[in-house]
Amino acid sequence: MIEKSKIEHKINLINKKIDLLKKIKRESLKNIFSKIKFNSGKKIRGLLLLTTAESCGKKINSDLLTYAACVELLHLGSLIHDDVIDNSEKRRGVFTLYKIIGKELSILAGDYLFSLVSKVIFNKKKSKIFNVFINSVNDICSGAIEEIYNKNNIELTEREYLNIIQQKTGSLICASVEIGALEAKVNIKTFNYLKKYGFFCGIAFQIIDDILDITGNEKELGKPVGSDICEGKITLPLLKALKNSSKEQRKYIEKIYRKGRTKENLNKIINFIFKNKGIECAKAEAENYIKKAKAYLKKAELKGDKKELFYITDYILNRTS
Ligand code: IPE
Ligand code: IPE
Ligand code: MG
Ligand code: MG
Repeated sequence: MIEKSKIEHKINLINKKIDLLKKIKRESLKNIFSKIKFNSGKKIRGLLLLTTAESCGKKINSDLLTYAACVELLHLGSLIHDDVIDNSEKRRGVFTLYKIIGKELSILAGDYLFSLVSKVIFNKKKSKIFNVFINSVNDICSGAIEEIYNKNNIELTEREYLNIIQQKTGSLICASVEIGALEAKVNIKTFNYLKKYGFFCGIAFQIIDDILDITGNEKELGKPVGSDICEGKITLPLLKALKNSSKEQRKYIEKIYRKGRTKENLNKIINFIFKNKGIECAKAEAENYIKKAKAYLKKAELKGDKKELFYITDYILNRTS
């Protein structure tokens, strides 16, 4: 498959740039960095950035690769923090950073990555790009805060859920598309279509992540499954199942969430989600967002080929890791 080999090539380029950006002399940081899986992960954000720019007729150059590496490093910093927040044991197939070096250093390592990429992007002196980037950082934080505030809140509406995932995850995915389009200097009409494309891809990406947390394979994902339910996170499969359930079933689930979850009732919640079509309905919703994303991508008049972007869009929906 041509698209697949092109994507692998771009992932290699992004990884090389990441290696350059993370080069550091100080021994303590070097030691911390040696425990982070910089070069694994799907690199979906960096890929979207590069592929959007290419589809808009821009050739990959050093600046584009710097931006792609930066969105990936920011994402990685957010994962390091996310694993502390979610008490998660595994990431990218290995122990999470805080399990190895502790929470204090992990929080600082995440902050370090954030400040490093902020500095690099700021020094490019492109205010529009810096603005997109920093707004996304802001969204990631406020989405994460909102999610914690709504732990165990089964009254959460789908609209509120969508708002949270758009901020915590969708925003950086959308920003990656926007930065690619800005670097390619597209006109405002095209930019707005691509922005909508990125917006819907971002939402679909997190819905699939939330589905995989229930249906996925731990080895393939490289991170634990079932952790959202354990942590009291309210995700779309649960919300859809609640919508499809009887009053009595809802009351039962309510009780479990009020009392706290044990290993035994964790399985009960999973069964409840499956029985009440939570997975199918959430998947249908993700399909809907992918359809919308594709519709906007079709509308955008681009100088280059859109094939690879469509390929990545389908991957967001059909991925198993
Ligand atoms: C995981 O992101 C966190 C979410 C925002 C869902 P990815 O699934 O992109 O993680 P990596 O980068 O491939 O490890
Ligand atoms: C990711 O959400 C939030 C971030 C933006 C880092 P999750 O908590 O669902 O991500 P995973 O499942 O741990 O990768
Ligand atoms: Mg997490
Ligand atoms: Mg998740």
